[in-house]
Amino acid sequence: MLAVKNLTKTFNTPGGDVMALRDINFAVDRGQFVSIIGKSGSGKSTLLSMLGALDTPTSGSLEVDGVDLAKLSSRQQTSYRAKTIGFVFQQYNLIPNLSALENVMLALEFGGTKPASRRDEATRLLKQVGLDEQEIQRKPTRLSGGQQQRVAIARAIANSPALILADEPTGNLDSETGQKIFDLLHKLSRSKNTTIIAVTHDLDIAGKTDKTFMLKDGKITTKQ
Ligand SMILES: Nc1ncnc2c1ncn2[C@@H]1O[C@H](COP(=O)(O)OP(=O)(O)OP(=O)(O)O)[C@@H](O)[C@H]1O
Ligand SMILES: [Mg+2]
Repeated sequence: MLAVKNLTKTFNTPGGDVMALRDINFAVDRGQFVSIIGKSGSGKSTLLSMLGALDTPTSGSLEVDGVDLAKLSSRQQTSYRAKTIGFVFQQYNLIPNLSALENVMLALEFGGTKPASRRDEATRLLKQVGLDEQEIQRKPTRLSGGQQQRVAIARAIANSPALILADEPTGNLDSETGQKIFDLLHKLSRSKNTTIIAVTHDLDIAGKTDKTFMLKDGKITTKQ
């Protein structure tokens, strides 16, 4: 489903060029759960933003289902992000003045779900990730970290994306809650054949995914 070929990314900064990614090559099949590990500054977030068409490569290519992301117009890239990708971030990035339910309803709106079915669909998604009737009415500040991340996952899967990109989704959670979030992502990838690429620093978690890429100084050093 995903093919990354000779991908490089260089940032030009006043202090000189930073080679964030150097000649990255890998392929991921549909439904696979891939973890990315590596030290701070090794290029993990840069790689995820390329995969999410949030930034463009300096050279090389990223193909999703045979389509080269760099060849899409900016409008097609926006549509790729909205329809094909679900993002989950370390900081959850929920909208603070909307309830959990409204956060997910908004994502459904962007994805083109009709107004009449948004509430029921958002409720179903939030229950699927383990929130109850009361919790879904609360604003993010009144939910625990693990619950907020569940809302973020419900939002990410709202439009049935083929690919979920998660940047340290459990970085703010205790290890037990983090494990539960990963189990939830795992279940999703199995039940809906969703491809998941998740950055983690937890080696136990990485060991349980289908494939692990280790980044070092912008290069993939191990593929398992
Ligand atoms: N917009 C940018 N401009 C300049 N340099 C950047 C930019 N974004 C990232 N970098 C540099 O590219 C390298 C890789 O950064 P990246 O954010 O991908 O690392 P990371 O592996 O996600 O680290 P962390 O674990 O701390 O999140 C670092 O040296 C970083 O300073
Ligand atoms: Mg990062």
